[in-house]
Amino acid sequence: MKKVFLIGADGMLGGELKERLEKKYDVTGTTIETLDICDKEAVLRKANEIKPDYIINCAAYTNVDGCEVNYDLANRVNGLAVENIADAAKATDAKLIHISTDYVFDGKLDVDKVYTENMETAPVSAYGKTKLLGEQNAAKAGKYYILRTAWLYGLGGKNFVKTMLKLSENHDSINVVCDQHGSPTSTTTLCEIIEQVMEKEPEYGVYHSTNEGFTTWYDFTKKIYELANKSTVVNPVTSEQYKEMNPASSDRPKNSQLSKQKLESIGIVPSKWEDALANYLEKELQ
Ligand SMILES: NC(=O)c1ccc[n+]([C@@H]2O[C@H](COP(=O)([O-])OP(=O)(O)OC[C@H]3O[C@@H](n4cnc5c(N)ncnc54)[C@H](OP(=O)(O)O)[C@@H]3O)[C@@H](O)[C@H]2O)c1
Repeated sequence: MKKVFLIGADGMLGGELKERLEKKYDVTGTTIETLDICDKEAVLRKANEIKPDYIINCAAYTNVDGCEVNYDLANRVNGLAVENIADAAKATDAKLIHISTDYVFDGKLDVDKVYTENMETAPVSAYGKTKLLGEQNAAKAGKYYILRTAWLYGLGGKNFVKTMLKLSENHDSINVVCDQHGSPTSTTTLCEIIEQVMEKEPEYGVYHSTNEGFTTWYDFTKKIYELANKSTVVNPVTSEQYKEMNPASSDRPKNSQLSKQKLESIGIVPSKWEDALANYLEKELQ
């Protein structure tokens, strides 16, 4: 049985991935309590102990607004520590699967266009900058897959869908940004993509890994309320209006629509975001 060293095994993505992979692989999961990825020696020691076929890094500092104020910590976890993991992968000849983000792009591309993997990165937020450093470090592993995902939600963690459902309990109306475009992605879809990458072992490199189709946060919210039968009214606001209302919020790309052509060219076809959302809500609302 192939061995997997799963880092960040109690996060929203890592938790679901661990449960799924345990059916097919010999998985050793670590959490911040058992392994701080900023500790280079400890990461290498753990990798030498496991001798994994794969190292999967789901750990990160994921609070986008928090990264603006805690830049050093975000940079250490999302950026610098990834080199520790890449070095450990190299030392043990393991393949590295690292999760990154659509926020590595500046979002200035026309909204009728999509970002391919080889297009220039230029993050506008502290989170995006630190994750881009993480990508550069992940690539040092040599044998690596960088999976850029976006707008992630899942059962085991805080996320946008849960926040919207919670707000609907005590709000007649809410304001949601209507000029940022991207792909909501369920952790279930991302787990499926990861498993297929492990099975197919395509060429190493970067793969855009989201659900299929694009929307805005505003239309995403309207869909959540439609599927969950909520009557809360959703008001569209621009990014600029939202920033005036929430001055501490981080800038975010207006267009982070990722092309899935490369993923599809290796036979991995993610489901539509609306279908993935419906599947998730069925479980979440049980
Ligand atoms: N969530 C999104 O919308 C989104 C969008 C695009 C990309 N991504 C990427 O997808 C991946 C998974 O995200 P997620 O939402 O599942 O994240 P998550 O739920 O926040 O999980 C991340 C885990 O990493 C742990 N961690 C933080 N610092 C660590 C350290 N120094 N050493 C070891 N573990 C540490 C966290 O522990 P604590 O909870 O104790 O801090 C947490 O358990 C990340 O790479 C993220 O950047 C997420």
